[in-house]
Amino acid sequence: MSWDGLQGGGVTWAASPAESARFGLEMTRLTVGWDVRPDRPVAVGPVAEEVTGRLRGDDAEVVVVRYPAASLELASAVARSGRQVLPAGSLTYWSAPWAEVARPEPVPGQEVLALADLPGGQAERSTVVDAVVADSFSGYGNHYAANPLLDPAAALAGYQEWARRTALADPHDALVLVLDGAVVGLATLVDSLSPEGHLEVLLAGLTTAAQGRGRYASLLAAVARAARARGRRSVVISTQSHNVRVQRAWARAGLRPFAAVETVHAVLPGLIP
Ligand SMILES: CC(C)(COP(=O)(O)OP(=O)(O)OC[C@H]1O[C@@H](n2cnc3c(N)ncnc32)[C@H](O)[C@@H]1OP(=O)(O)O)[C@@H](O)C(=O)NCCC(=O)NCCS
Repeated sequence: MSWDGLQGGGVTWAASPAESARFGLEMTRLTVGWDVRPDRPVAVGPVAEEVTGRLRGDDAEVVVVRYPAASLELASAVARSGRQVLPAGSLTYWSAPWAEVARPEPVPGQEVLALADLPGGQAERSTVVDAVVADSFSGYGNHYAANPLLDPAAALAGYQEWARRTALADPHDALVLVLDGAVVGLATLVDSLSPEGHLEVLLAGLTTAAQGRGRYASLLAAVARAARARGRRSVVISTQSHNVRVQRAWARAGLRPFAAVETVHAVLPGLIP
């Protein structure tokens, strides 16, 4: 989820038609804004009551609930709704000013390009994005994997659709890592809403054969260059907290963690035997 999408001091509640169609279940998203934290002026108590009430009044089979991890009392607010509660992992957000992101030495035969600079049109771009995401994210432990009602193959298809949506809408918003003429990595990007804010990586991964050789650092360095070129101050990126491997790469590249956000699935009672 983008960092901008988590901002605010209240509860955002929205039907999720794309996820509902993909998984064949009614799904809703309930997001508690980043300002609802114990050390902030926005009190957690009234928000907790609203969360419980919204979950009780919602007919959706699955509500994907997100809240600042520091607001621990929201866990019981979800449970009081009477729904089955599935802890689905936390998201950790990291960032660095673009100038502080490590610049690795060039690697012969390897370059990072915008998707727009690859030969071919939308069909070829779509094939490239699908292939890299399928290879790098199959078996990835995203929050859907916590829920036995959700088909993992549909979750992967959702990742592909998400990546395609960003990359094809503007192929300058996707960077590809090319090794000996073949695309082996992808990063999809979104500019923050504030004019001089950050450039965020929505999704990034390398094909399995290309992993484990430090190549990701080159992709990250290209993201930092893109942030500079777009007049952004910093780079923001996130992952599930269990994905320590990518966090090691971020730490080595000079990024630092700045936020943690909990995800739980609140499921209508009785659906999970
Ligand atoms: C996570 C990912 C982007 C890292 O790219 P990479 O080029 O493989 O990264 P690196 O080679 O720099 O390795 C990063 C760390 O993982 C470790 N690592 C490498 N291969 C590993 C393996 N097979 N198993 C466990 N750890 C491994 C490295 O030792 C390194 O740790 P270190 O800094 O302590 O040495 C890549 O593995 C990937 O695409 N994974 C699947 C998708 C994903 O998780 N994307 C990020 C979430 S949005």
